[in-house]
Amino acid sequence: MCPTKSSYEKITAAAVSQIFEINHPLVHHHISALREVSTSASEFRRLIRRLTIFLAYEATKDMGVIDRTVRTPMKTTTGNVINDKIGIIPIIRAGLVMVEPLLDLIPSAEVWHLGLYRDEETAQAIEYYNKLPASHPVDVGFVIDPMLATGGSAISALSALDQWGVPKLKLLSVIAAPEGIRAVEAAFPQAQIFVCAVDERLDKNRFIIPGLGDAGDRAFNT
Ligand code: PRP
Repeated sequence: MCPTKSSYEKITAAAVSQIFEINHPLVHHHISALREVSTSASEFRRLIRRLTIFLAYEATKDMGVIDRTVRTPMKTTTGNVINDKIGIIPIIRAGLVMVEPLLDLIPSAEVWHLGLYRDEETAQAIEYYNKLPASHPVDVGFVIDPMLATGGSAISALSALDQWGVPKLKLLSVIAAPEGIRAVEAAFPQAQIFVCAVDERLDKNRFIIPGLGDAGDRAFNT
């Protein structure tokens, strides 16, 4: 798999170092099906789960590991096991669909839900659920949400993790608007952003174009 920064760089003409757009034929294939308006809710969820595996593969490349002795049926050898304390932070609702594939890959991760919705008039992110503890932050926090539009929801989630004291911040989104990437970059230049596709722009209602509609509605058939 080959993460590239090319299309976002073309869009922004800026030197960026923290944005990773995954360039892979399977990602392109599944994104096309995801965008398709006739895709059912169950297939939509399945596609999000598949794409999340690609995001997770890239976003976990720098995870801390330690040596561990392993006994095979043949001999004793040394293996590596994950040593970082990982937090998965889904933004409710649509981010919930991305939890299972990430937990499959990192079974020991903690899952901390954040409830955020975008006010329809102002597009401001409104927080309605947050039970992050006051202490003992994770080493790495993965904020997951299929869509990064204005970036308001992601910035709110990253701020919550920052307040908790999480040193390494990562945002995993399936599709993103350049406006949202720029906003997150400006607010959290230290955060890494992993996306499967960078779309053209936001429309006047701040929906991603061409996008895929509303991920929460499409995933949960509402
Ligand atoms: C959508 C999406 C993101 C947010 C992105 O959620 O799942 O959370 O909007 O927009 P932003 O980058 O402009 O903040 P929505 O607010 O529709 O809530 P829902 O998941 O409950 O449908």
